[in-house]
Amino acid sequence: MTSPLFRKKNFLPDASDSAAHSLKRCLSAWDLTFLGVGAIIGTGIFVLTGVAAATQAGPAIVISFILAGLACTFAALSYAELAAAIGGCGSAYGYSYVAFGELCAFIIGWDLLLEYSIAVATVANGWSGYFCTMLNAINLPLPAALTKPPALGGIINLPAMLIILVLMILLILGTKHSAKANNLMVWIKLITISFFIAMAALNIHPENWQPFMPFGWFNTLPDGHTTGILAGASLVFFAYVGFDAVSTATEEANNPQRDLPFGIVASLLFCTVIYILVAGLLTGAIPYTQLNVSSPVAHALNLMGYPWASALISTGVIAGLSTVMLVLYYALTRIIFAMSRDGLLPVFFNEVHSKTNTPVRVIVVCGSLMACIAGLVPLGELAELVNIGTLAAFVLVCLGVIMLRITQPDMPRPFKTPFSPLFPLLGVISCSALMSFLPTITWLRFLIWLGIGLSIYFAYSLHNSKLGQS
Ligand code: ALA
Repeated sequence: MTSPLFRKKNFLPDASDSAAHSLKRCLSAWDLTFLGVGAIIGTGIFVLTGVAAATQAGPAIVISFILAGLACTFAALSYAELAAAIGGCGSAYGYSYVAFGELCAFIIGWDLLLEYSIAVATVANGWSGYFCTMLNAINLPLPAALTKPPALGGIINLPAMLIILVLMILLILGTKHSAKANNLMVWIKLITISFFIAMAALNIHPENWQPFMPFGWFNTLPDGHTTGILAGASLVFFAYVGFDAVSTATEEANNPQRDLPFGIVASLLFCTVIYILVAGLLTGAIPYTQLNVSSPVAHALNLMGYPWASALISTGVIAGLSTVMLVLYYALTRIIFAMSRDGLLPVFFNEVHSKTNTPVRVIVVCGSLMACIAGLVPLGELAELVNIGTLAAFVLVCLGVIMLRITQPDMPRPFKTPFSPLFPLLGVISCSALMSFLPTITWLRFLIWLGIGLSIYFAYSLHNSKLGQS
């Protein structure tokens, strides 16, 4: 008999779910692509590019973006295969349940909770910074104590809290409403980026690309920090986090088997091209040494002689970061919803509101918790924690494709990863490599989080699993 830890779900959709426990289909292929672009383009390109260029890779940050983008492309193709074949709103959690069994699925679900919740709280902090700058610019500054958490000398980061609460209301109102708001904000951020690309292209100084690789490929500094193109790739990987969130929309997609692979792959490829362009132009227009600032894109426009453009960029960034939070928050609630429906988290979360068709309880609990974290905890270094969590999920999804091709060769696969098992294997190798370039402290925090998850699994989930009870 199989051990309970390795009991697996069938890949066929579960038809037994009642309306109170299932979500309404309302998202088109373009909605899904916009969800992807909404979740992907944000802090990574607007903030981290400058820091990574100035301190880790120099102009070769372009190569860091290409490497991270390649790793993500392998993972995205694997996501597309499993999303179309297995479905479910649990994303990597659901695929692992089918491919590897319950314990592994729980671990990856727990890991996704970390990824999405910390990402939302971290991005809310960045959002708050831009929002305060905008308030200052129109002479309506907030008292400093209301813009920082206690550990940084303030009382609370109020804007960070409030934006999460606003998104909470939007998500409660319904998925179609959220998708419409997302589409509008994605257009604003794309216009902003196009504007930057045009301006920077007119101000290129090729000598700024020399030396191209001032930090080499990889170095560990005495203080434990890492530099070089590869370390830069591990950091800017954050810029790609989010395309996986599209796969949590399976149950709300009009035609998931056709539209999900399109949404996942199209959004990733589009953003990869944008990133390479922006990183190349940014370092070509401004010497990389001057980019270690919190808003490199606006800063670069200032230095190019367009100070008025900063306001436009701030609007774009505020819209851009809002969509990142919206989609990642959405994904977080769908993962918890799926885990709760399987009995691995309390059934309290497994209810859909009859009017809005959204899992209101999960949305409110997650929103309140994340608002508290974003308002009260300094989140400076946590972006790397998001990266390690996401990379771990990517590794398992790629392994899942390989595993299921062996154990379930006849499973219907509306989308097939090309060159399997080579591409999924390259996904495993490249994502594991990016994990290995992350600092030790990030690994430690990640292992502590997994330790907490395992305790919950053995104390609660193992005994309450629906699969176990059936
Ligand atoms: N990719 C998202 C961002 O860059 C998380 O903000």
